[in-house]
Amino acid sequence: MRIIGTGSARPSLVVTNAMLENFLDTSDEWIVTRTGIHERRVISSENLEDLASTAALRAMEDAGVTPEQIDFIICSNVVNEYVTPGLGCIIQGKIGATCPTMDINCACTGFIYALDIAESYLATKDMKNILIVCAEEPSRMMNWKDRSSCILFGDAAGAAVVTKGDDLKAIRLSTHCKVEALYQKRKLQPTPFLTKEESDGGVVMNGQDVFKLAVSSSIKDIDKVLGMAGITADDIDLYVLHQANVRIIEAIQHFVKQDRSKFPVNLNKYGNVSSASIPALLDDLNRGNKLRTGEMLLLSAFGAGFTTGACILRWSK
Ligand code: COA
Repeated sequence: MRIIGTGSARPSLVVTNAMLENFLDTSDEWIVTRTGIHERRVISSENLEDLASTAALRAMEDAGVTPEQIDFIICSNVVNEYVTPGLGCIIQGKIGATCPTMDINCACTGFIYALDIAESYLATKDMKNILIVCAEEPSRMMNWKDRSSCILFGDAAGAAVVTKGDDLKAIRLSTHCKVEALYQKRKLQPTPFLTKEESDGGVVMNGQDVFKLAVSSSIKDIDKVLGMAGITADDIDLYVLHQANVRIIEAIQHFVKQDRSKFPVNLNKYGNVSSASIPALLDDLNRGNKLRTGEMLLLSAFGAGFTTGACILRWSK
């Protein structure tokens, strides 16, 4: 597999930490010190499917492929206004593609899971170009009265077009059932037969547990994929990590003992945009001419589940 195009799209509304101070008992100073986040983009009038389609079309333009040349769409999404059909079906129609689509919900780790699916589909099926779209609106999942969680997230879409190639050097996925660390439940439609109580509300998160799980599992994944690829941490040019908290990124940096310049960050401007974090950051790097042919990238993410994933990818675009 190799990546031949990237794209991203973000809502227009910028929500600064100062704006959160208007309705939460928080401060810019607390948020910046504990997370590194200064502002995030939040959906106001946009629809997620439009952001997702824009990101997809940008990735396709970057790759030089037409809608007819897309053989499969993998959409990573946790929630959107449609329960059904899957967001991938809606994106397919909006971008004018005709291929099959598949939605996955692996929370913030979705892009790495999608890369793994794409790798095996390209190897085993008669497919040339696969479009991966990660589109998330965590702002619609939050309890905006819970200052320990709602300050962390933003909305965005990130996309990539992948084709046959040998740039994927190692990949590892894992899931450890730890629902209580981070979850959201919702009430479904009532039925005449229902006898149980159901709960509703925003995301429930144990921030400290998630922090510790994120660091320990990312370190393990990174160690494993480096071993699988037969290279060392020094051989990696850029660590493109899930953008959740700059302190998590610093803890990982400390573990691999690499220079800070190898850890690009955009969470200061966008917060945690779930599975869109890595593809949108890749797109920022790609469009900012920050990626060189032949560079080795290490991608690593974690999210609700608890899901984790990491891979080593040569950049050859
Ligand atoms: N503003 C001001 N104070 C806040 C606050 C906010 N936005 N959020 C929490 N606090 C308070 C707490 O109430 C607590 O007060 P107390 O000591 O009086 O009880 C204090 O700050 C410390 O809280 P704590 O939870 O220990 O802070 P922390 O250093 O662990 O940071 C997180 C909290 C959420 C930023 C951090 O744990 C984190 O980033 N975890 C990972 C979450 C994540 O990445 N989730 C997504 C995974 S994909």
